[in-house]
Amino acid sequence: MVTWNSSLETGNAVVDRDHQALINQINALDDALKQGTAKEQIGPMIGFLNQYVRAHFAREEDIMRAVKCPASGQNCTAHRALIGKLDGWVTRLNADGATTSLVLEIYREASAWLQQHIVKVDCQLRGCPPA
Ligand SMILES: [Fe+2]
Repeated sequence: MVTWNSSLETGNAVVDRDHQALINQINALDDALKQGTAKEQIGPMIGFLNQYVRAHFAREEDIMRAVKCPASGQNCTAHRALIGKLDGWVTRLNADGATTSLVLEIYREASAWLQQHIVKVDCQLRGCPPA
């Protein structure tokens, strides 16, 4: 379970709204794991994450470029790496099906990545003047 708190606030309303939607989806996967329904739900969830993450990354990268955020390049590199991970999970889901270990791996890695990335990279938006 990821709890939204002030350490995750970038100060940009668009980016923060997107991050809250992503956290809600990660928490929905956590709920599904606890309720034993994650194997059925992981396919549609990954489909949503894949689409939403790509749209969010594009929005956030545009915003960082517009405000000349010093973390802009680092942010793009990190985003490409996460998209590679998402693609890898989709490939494995399609090949092996939704195993418990894969669903747990997706939840753990996605929730850890998101929190660390927001705090370390996205929050560098805080020091940037508005575009
Ligand atoms: Fe980011």
